[in-house]
Amino acid sequence: MSIIVSPSLLSADFLHLSKDIEMVNQSQADWFHLDIMDGVFVPNISYGLPVVSQIKKMATKPLDVHLMIVQPERYVEAFHKAGADILTVHYEACTHLHRTIQQIKAAGMKAGVSLNPHTPVMLLEDVIRDIDVVLLMSVNPGFGGQSFIEQTINKVIKLKKLITDSNANTLIEIDGGVNFETGKRLVEAGADALVAGSFVFNSPDPAENIKGLKELKM
Ligand code: DX5
Ligand code: ZN
Repeated sequence: MSIIVSPSLLSADFLHLSKDIEMVNQSQADWFHLDIMDGVFVPNISYGLPVVSQIKKMATKPLDVHLMIVQPERYVEAFHKAGADILTVHYEACTHLHRTIQQIKAAGMKAGVSLNPHTPVMLLEDVIRDIDVVLLMSVNPGFGGQSFIEQTINKVIKLKKLITDSNANTLIEIDGGVNFETGKRLVEAGADALVAGSFVFNSPDPAENIKGLKELKM
């Protein structure tokens, strides 16, 4: 399977969002990565449901929605209605993670679970077969443009082994500090999907960087 590329609109031009959505539509990207921040779970506030609904009207690719919010179970239905195809919640934000995963799938979406840099992958041992995507944070969530945390490579290797040993079909997605150099090593370690924000949107040729990330594994 080729690498999945999910550009994060957090670094897009919000005054001309339709232009950036169109660029992603026309590019080789696979998903749209949408970062929802509540100012409580993470020290930043991004955008919310009305923006997601508007993006949905124009996007021709699945919406990969990353909830960096407390009590995400309260918003599962709302994000489904807004157009999320993959809904990812944080392990650290869920007291009853198993229930929340079932809730996401019952609503008709793919279920993702994200781990902060300090959270060991083995904590997912008993739910790994229920999860469609594990989103490993390779920066502390909250902001774009931070530098890649090296330990993520070891986490990818450990997670890959957990998935194989559990006979699961879970995808490994990485979020934060992804560029050609870190992307190449993540692919070699076993990543299936790469999120890229500043590396795509701060580039003079965003579509070209998306293409370059796709070429890391064809
Ligand atoms: C950070 C977000 C990321 C962010 C990544 O909390 O989850 O998706 O947009 O940005 P870059 O690719 O610039 O590190
Ligand atoms: Zn994200």
